[in-house]
Amino acid sequence: MNEAWSLTRQLHREHLNTLSVLNDLEMRVINNAPKPIDVSDRNDRFRLEDFIRMIDDDLFRHYRFEEEIVFPRLAEVGLSPITDMLSMEHETIRGLADGLRSAAIVALESGFTSASWSEFRDGVMDLVHSVNFHIQKEEMGVIRQLDMVLGAGVDRELGVLYAAFV
Ligand SMILES: [Fe+2]
Ligand SMILES: [Fe+2]
Repeated sequence: MNEAWSLTRQLHREHLNTLSVLNDLEMRVINNAPKPIDVSDRNDRFRLEDFIRMIDDDLFRHYRFEEEIVFPRLAEVGLSPITDMLSMEHETIRGLADGLRSAAIVALESGFTSASWSEFRDGVMDLVHSVNFHIQKEEMGVIRQLDMVLGAGVDRELGVLYAAFV
């Protein structure tokens, strides 16, 4: 089997990417809190752009696929208590991420004010907390079982479907 097509692997890879992008942003927020992200600085600008890309691909798109395709299959084998809880967490995270995504877009255009920076920082910390908790739960409760529950053939089939999912 070509493992690159495995759905489990793709979801896991995106979890790691989410953690890495958020960790970088969190470090920037913690280590240099008084100084807003400077959109004329190449690294800071990249950080915001990467953050927006991560929200679109590794949160919004990823969550939609989990809810539409993955969770119903897990619910069929009796895991709906877990998938219901994970779907509720998606809602909370989507709400947080949506506000931060808009703030990041505005900042890329016109920079942060001290008020918008302070709000953005608080939002990032809330998002980091919720996402870390969610990924931890999903890795333990879903990813570890997923290819076993689905079977290697279906894991690959869904992986191919996910690679083309927009
Ligand atoms: Fe996930
Ligand atoms: Fe999820």
